[in-house]
Amino acid sequence: MVRNLLVVLATIVTCASAAADPGINLVDWSKPRTEDEARLLPGLLLGKRIFEDLELSEPRGLSCASCHDPATAYRGNNHSAIPAIPAGSRPGIFGNRKSPSILYQAYSPPFAFAERLNDVTGEPEIVPVGGQFWDGRASGLEEQVEGPLLNPREMNNPSKESVVSKVRAGPYADLAREVYGAQIFEDDRAFEKLASAVASYEASPRFKPFSSKFDQWLEGRTLLSDQEWMGFQLFVDRKKGNCLSCHDGGGVDEHEGSAAVASAKGPTDMSQLSRNPRSWLFTDFTYDVLGAPRNRAIPENADPAHFDLGLCARSDLRSLAPADYDLESLCGAFKVPSLRNVAVGGPYLHNGAFTKLRDVVAFYFTRDTDPGRWFSKTANGAVEKFDDLPERYRHNVNVRQVPYDRKAGEEPRATDDEIDALVAFLKTLTDEPFKNSD
Ligand code: HEC
Ligand code: HEC
Repeated sequence: MVRNLLVVLATIVTCASAAADPGINLVDWSKPRTEDEARLLPGLLLGKRIFEDLELSEPRGLSCASCHDPATAYRGNNHSAIPAIPAGSRPGIFGNRKSPSILYQAYSPPFAFAERLNDVTGEPEIVPVGGQFWDGRASGLEEQVEGPLLNPREMNNPSKESVVSKVRAGPYADLAREVYGAQIFEDDRAFEKLASAVASYEASPRFKPFSSKFDQWLEGRTLLSDQEWMGFQLFVDRKKGNCLSCHDGGGVDEHEGSAAVASAKGPTDMSQLSRNPRSWLFTDFTYDVLGAPRNRAIPENADPAHFDLGLCARSDLRSLAPADYDLESLCGAFKVPSLRNVAVGGPYLHNGAFTKLRDVVAFYFTRDTDPGRWFSKTANGAVEKFDDLPERYRHNVNVRQVPYDRKAGEEPRATDDEIDALVAFLKTLTDEPFKNSD
């Protein structure tokens, strides 16, 4: 313990001196600095250095880790004054969506329109799947790295070349040379190579720990409490939570099949559920229109005509979709996030509309039975359901699927106690390294 503390202190001291005068590198950042880093192959260490490098923003001070903080399961907002959206590198500049945890994101397949069985009808249909970001606009992790580095609302670098120059002039340039060869910085593809180091780091075991209580339970090493077990049953029950119909998902590169092997229509048979943690990513990486309430804390939302339309707003979508695909049906659609480590902290949903996990779960059940609890009211006092979408797209919101297939005045599909149980179950999805923070 004391030894670990010393390592931490030494790291803080060395960081501070490097920050005070980046020109003098008393510390060799091309080498591992901690026991943890000593376990990383050079390529992964390079990825970690880039991920944590505060010099790679304009002005300096913002790294990937500022918004994907290892202490909070790789989510975060860079100490933003508006918790739902992260602060960028420049004062007063904010991102426009909630920063998701990037744990398990390496499993997201490349963005594509692919065949899936419809959860309601059981018939095959073509739907968008995968990619990175809430709208999948980066096909994979490597392509994603460019996004935040060049985004003026985030790290604000003027070009890929400027990022490469910073790494070249920085304290771990030798590590990049060790990994990609002495000529890396002369290479036209230097940026892509550095990006692939980051992507490899994000795909390394620390980003997919599978070490939650639920994983231990799957492997028969622990028991769930009565309340957690009740929550799990509600989660998979197709007539109650039905959460598994979207928050399902088997690993892609270690594909073990999906968690629920029961047919899309049939009741979920617990004995048929996979006991392999890798079958339980808690997302199938598809998209859905959940109808999240508008978050008025987002400054752009002061303009009533401003809406984040999600997937359908992507300019490249037409070229990726089948010729006759109704792209407008995807307005309001966002990628299903993994629920692993969801209890570590909010805000929740793409627009950070909720700060409490229980509210998200309660929203699922009472969105339609008690919309006044969640949505704003118009001038004449009527509840404006799905107020974060323009009226013409509100019919896109999924109102057919359990649990949100209820009508106003009907009983919700879960009671308050059942909602508590679902939350208790979601808390079992916190991986070992983050258990203290949930
Ligand atoms: C200023 C905060 C901020 C910084 C800095 C930042 N990110 Fe993000 N990150 C976000 C936000 C916000 C999103 C979601 C944006 C969207 O969907 O439009 C996101 C999304 C992602 C995703 C996709 C996750 C998913 O669920 O689809 C990955 C992967 C990622 N970031 C990695 C990185 C890497 C690597 C860096 C550094 C090169 C980085 N981020 C820097 C805020 C940030
Ligand atoms: C039809 C698909 C679907 C079903 C069914 C579904 N979800 Fe989701 N879930 C989503 C999508 C899509 C989002 C992201 C929506 C957004 O941000 O606008 C989401 C987001 C969430 C979030 C927020 C995660 C975060 O990091 O912000 C939680 C928590 C959650 N769902 C829990 C549940 C629970 C519990 C159930 C069952 C009661 C459930 N979901 C059923 C599609 C679904």
